[in-house]
Amino acid sequence: MSNQTEERKLNHIKVCLEEDVQTRRKTTGFEDVFFVHQALPEIKRDRIDLSTSIFNHKLTAPLIVGAMTGGAAKTTKINAAIAQAVEELGLGMGVGSQRAAIDNRKLEHTFTVTREKAPTALLVANIGAPQLARGYGVKEAKRAVDMMEADALAIHLNPLQEAVQPEGETDYTGVLKKIGEIAQAIDVPVIVKETGAGIAAEEAKMLEDAGVAGIDVAGAGGTSWAAVEYHRAKRVGDESRQSLGENFWDWGIPTVVSLIEVIQSVHLTVIASGGVRSGLDVAKALALGADLASTSLPVLRPATKSQEEVKKTLQFTIDELRNVMFLVGAESIQKLRDVPIVVVGKTAEWLRARGFHPELYAKRKA
Ligand SMILES: Cc1cc2nc3c(=O)[nH]c(=O)nc-3n(C[C@H](O)[C@H](O)[C@H](O)COP(=O)(O)O)c2cc1C
Repeated sequence: MSNQTEERKLNHIKVCLEEDVQTRRKTTGFEDVFFVHQALPEIKRDRIDLSTSIFNHKLTAPLIVGAMTGGAAKTTKINAAIAQAVEELGLGMGVGSQRAAIDNRKLEHTFTVTREKAPTALLVANIGAPQLARGYGVKEAKRAVDMMEADALAIHLNPLQEAVQPEGETDYTGVLKKIGEIAQAIDVPVIVKETGAGIAAEEAKMLEDAGVAGIDVAGAGGTSWAAVEYHRAKRVGDESRQSLGENFWDWGIPTVVSLIEVIQSVHLTVIASGGVRSGLDVAKALALGADLASTSLPVLRPATKSQEEVKKTLQFTIDELRNVMFLVGAESIQKLRDVPIVVVGKTAEWLRARGFHPELYAKRKA
């Protein structure tokens, strides 16, 4: 990888640590989702079983840390801290784009450190769609997986980020076909993920037809890549890039809208992410039908400190999830999926305008 790309990666992390990089006017839609409080839960909070399985891998709770980093020497420490924490908690993690290490073996350790620190945790490898358009294929996908003995491969879609960054790779032709070829050829499940702008039902169906195993919606309402690029442009005094970032700051499909569109359109494993900020958000995502939730930005700062800090952050979210499950009388993740949930406001309006049915979740299932 060129020094310039390495510099950019570190720059992204610095901006995410120092600036406000989350959407401003647009929200995830979790604030439009309500549980029906159960005054007679008839269960013991301490007996609640949070464990779940994804792609035949058992997790102690339905939460992973979403793809963030690797590829620059200084990021090894961040990946190591996250890996050690998820190993000890029995969770999972994704790594950031492995392009750097595919192009330059010297950087492999920034990713392989995750398997060293997490011999049994669910690990998700990562490559990007723009690289598929520029020649990456089955060979590179296999290398990404083998490099860290990953349990699954995520292929990320980031057209918004590419469109607003000066070095952006804005050729997305032939990406779907390549995704299909990779999904057929490699022997771990392929997850297609967005990076903060969401996935609509139409794309979800195309991806299902292409043979992918899972979709990670990564909707709008959390980290905004337009915001990250706005701050980068501001720091170097590039006014036109700055206003581009500003104008697209809130672009995207809110996480809850994307989640419901995808769940009501395909029969795939679905991961909820993009602005997942609490155990309550995780619980809502699962009650809406997600198989797993994933969170990225809230883990970044703790990961620069220590694995203990990462553990604390994740444990707090899990404890909160347990609390919600107590308050709705759900003693397992399966039961949480059946509790009634009400979707109102602009989220419900958006979904109806697109022909989806937010009211389907409001009744208690038998
Ligand atoms: C510092 C940082 C780096 C990221 N790098 C990647 C990446 O390389 N590949 C990827 O698929 N997603 C990447 N993402 C996107 C996240 O995986 C996630 O989809 C997005 O941040 C939304 O989740 P959040 O609101 O919980 O942060 C990155 C996010 C952050 C904050």
